[in-house]
Amino acid sequence: AWKQSFRRKLLAWYKQHERDLPWRKSRDPYRVWVSEVMLQQTQVATVRGYFERFMAALPTVHDLAAAEEQQVLRLWEGLGYYRRARGLHAAAKVVSNELGGEFPTSVEELMKLPGIGRYTAGAIVSIAYDKPAPILEANTIRLLARLVALRDDPTRSAGQKRLWQVAEELLPRKEVSRFNQALMELGSLVCTPRTPKCDACPVESLCHARQLGIVEELLPTTKK
Ligand code: ADE
Repeated sequence: AWKQSFRRKLLAWYKQHERDLPWRKSRDPYRVWVSEVMLQQTQVATVRGYFERFMAALPTVHDLAAAEEQQVLRLWEGLGYYRRARGLHAAAKVVSNELGGEFPTSVEELMKLPGIGRYTAGAIVSIAYDKPAPILEANTIRLLARLVALRDDPTRSAGQKRLWQVAEELLPRKEVSRFNQALMELGSLVCTPRTPKCDACPVESLCHARQLGIVEELLPTTKK
């Protein structure tokens, strides 16, 4: 029952607070994929401009597959972690040349592509296809660790395992796309690393760290 309440409160909050971000304008898996890879180590404010330029230059997976590596790296310049750009380029070639331009629709199949891990695969499946798949990235790790007052280190395997399980158990049957984006949005706008805005949080009453008064002690170990 608390899970149902969590979902309802979170989705109601998201209706009011959803930011207008360029990658939210369409459900195209290519756009979801590129944006999520960019967002892995880079802040939303920086990604906005890079994402718009990238999509203007390479609007489809076929364009990316056919691009020169130099062009891809130039579009990435300043984002850092160039391995991500190379992985993106390599996976685009597989999707374009071997899969007829269609992205796989399951987490398992997506994870066979270069550079696509469990998070990116879950983001594509849930956000683009609206199919149930858990996601876990910096924002949601912090939020869920606080929600259940996680005792294990969220960067170690026991903590990770527990958090993936919580992310999975919380998934709604419908509106998975909005639900997962809402989780990230709440983590990024309210459940912030330092001085989280618990007074403005729609799920404050369900948060174990808040009840125990240890919200700020469960400090995130992942940077973003
Ligand atoms: N961080 C990672 N993915 C994100 C998304 N889709 N929206 C906002 N922040 C994010």
